[in-house]
Order: sequence, then structure tokens, then C-alpha cells
Amino acid sequence: MKKIWFITGASKGLGLALVKRLLTEGYRVAATSRKKEALIESVGNYDNASFLPLEVDLTNPSAIQEAINSANNHFGKLDVLVNNAGYGIGGAIEELSPEEIKNSFDVNVFATIYAMQAVLPHFRAQRSGHIINISSIAGFSAANGWAAYAATKFAIFGLTEVTADDVKDLGIKATVVAPGAFRTSFLTADSLVYSSRKIDDYSAVHASHSKYDSMNGQQQGDPDKAAEMLIELAEMETPPVRFFMGSDAYRRGKIKTETLEQELEAGKELSFRTDFN
Ligand SMILES: NC(=O)c1ccc[n+]([C@@H]2O[C@H](COP(=O)([O-])OP(=O)(O)OC[C@H]3O[C@@H](n4cnc5c(N)ncnc54)[C@H](OP(=O)(O)O)[C@@H]3O)[C@@H](O)[C@H]2O)c1
Repeated sequence: MKKIWFITGASKGLGLALVKRLLTEGYRVAATSRKKEALIESVGNYDNASFLPLEVDLTNPSAIQEAINSANNHFGKLDVLVNNAGYGIGGAIEELSPEEIKNSFDVNVFATIYAMQAVLPHFRAQRSGHIINISSIAGFSAANGWAAYAATKFAIFGLTEVTADDVKDLGIKATVVAPGAFRTSFLTADSLVYSSRKIDDYSAVHASHSKYDSMNGQQQGDPDKAAEMLIELAEMETPPVRFFMGSDAYRRGKIKTETLEQELEAGKELSFRTDFN
């Protein structure tokens, strides 16, 4: 039997590419969107036996739980949860309002936590299942101007790394995916949010934002290939806990690990000084 998937944030971008690919390959899929009609229009016509579109407010934990339970009832089980919904939030930390920061954590972090909490009882009962959490290369090697976004995506790394360990004896797998730049709606005004407050002193931050804006439509990552890769990950007997998706993600990850290694060694003598004698 082919695996049954549950995907959040699927009316466009990576989520949409994944839903389309899965349905083409004969998988069964439940997918969420803030706007069910937009989701159905983007995905195209499939009957309920293979595609279950769900309108879900991802800031509402009980709505997430209800969606996962209804998808589980509808298909009889779930095998793969992809926490994909998310958006970029740009601004120096003092430019961002508490509300702007909180909203980004609600969607990028808390929705993922709530979906994991909702699916795990089903996965534990069946002693199988795979949670794939979409972070970002910015959740491992952050870029200037994106502090709050990096904070949300670093959170996804920690959450997934530990959960992978916590559930491994229960037959459940967890993978954090760190995409590089993919050609989706991510960098468009529809998705990306900037702080409404601007402070002139942060000219380097604003220059970084302009650089990202100008990358829109030029990103090297192909969402259709990302979809194929996510399916490949879910089909692996032993999937990685961390996966850097895209050559740019690999390169940024490599530079970061080398920098970490150097910093760790440079600070070693100081690190050892704080132990009790
Ligand atoms: N594209 C990249 O370069 C890139 C790089 C690194 C990481 N990522 C991550 O990959 C994931 C998918 O992004 P994408 O590139 O496919 O971007 P996208 O084309 O903008 O699609 C993002 C999806 O997330 C949902 N979403 C966006 N803002 C939301 C909000 N405020 N509340 C609830 N849902 C919201 C949307 O769902 P609905 O509109 O259907 O509700 C949408 O389908 C995100 O987690 C993103 O952070 C992307």
C-alpha cells in the first residue's frame, strides 16, 4: 500500500508541488490551506478517495487536531506528516513588533508543534510514521536581516532533532529539511512579511532585504525536484534526521559547520576553565 500523506500550507509553492506529485504517483493526500477553494483550484480535480482538501487555521491548535483526526478517519491511517506552511519575516529585531514576531512563531513553529502532537498518538498506535518538518538553511546558517525568521527555523531544527531521538524506539521517524532558495511564492509580497517599522541605522539589513527581493524568480531550487526529493526521503528505510536541500543549502551548511568547528576549537581552553576542579 502506498503511504498516506498530510501536508500543511499546500495552495502554492513547495506544498502544492508535493501534493501534485503525490497525486500523480497515486498516493493519497490530505492537505491544508487557509483557503480551501484556492487549494482545490491549484491542485485540480481529484475525488475524495485520493485527495482531502482541508481549510485549517494553523494558529488554532484544536483546528489542527481536528484536521489530522479527520484525515486519519477518512483514509484509515496516516503515514507521513509534512509541516510545510511557513513564511519569511524580515527586519532587524528592534524594527519588528511583538505581534509581527509572535505571528511568525505561531505559523512557523507552534503550528508544527501542534501538528506533531496531533499526529503522534496515531503514529504511536500503529508503531510507524514519518514527520518531515520544513525548516530552512536560515535555520542552520542565518542571513543578516532575518533574525526572527532564523529563530523560528532554528526552533524547527531543535524540535525535530530531539523528537527523532524520542520516537525512534516507537518505529517513528523524524526529518528536518533545510531548503536553500526555491522558486516558489516565498519571496513575493503575498508570502513574505517585512517589519512595518524601519530604522535608518539598519541600512545593511534593508540592503539584504533588497537583495532577497531581487532574487525572486531567479532561485536555483526547483520545487518539482524538491517534491520528488521529499517523496524519496519518505520512502527511505533509514531517512536522515537532517537534510540540506539544494546546492546552496549544502554550501551554506558546509561553511557554517567549518566556522563552528573553528570556533569550538578556538574557545576550547576557555570552555574547559568553567568546570569544578
Ligand atoms: N522557497 C524558499 O526559498 C524556501 C527556503 C527555505 C525554506 N522555505 C520554507 O518552505 C516552506 C514552504 O514555503 P514556499 O517556498 O513553498 O513558500 P510559498 O510559495 O509562499 O508557500 C507557503 C505556504 O505556506 C502557507 N503559509 C504562508 N504564510 C502563511 C500564514 N501566514 N499562515 C498560514 N499559512 C501560511 C501557505 O499556505 P496557504 O496559502 O495554502 O494557506 C503557502 O501554501 C516554508 O516553511 C518556508 O519557510 C522556503
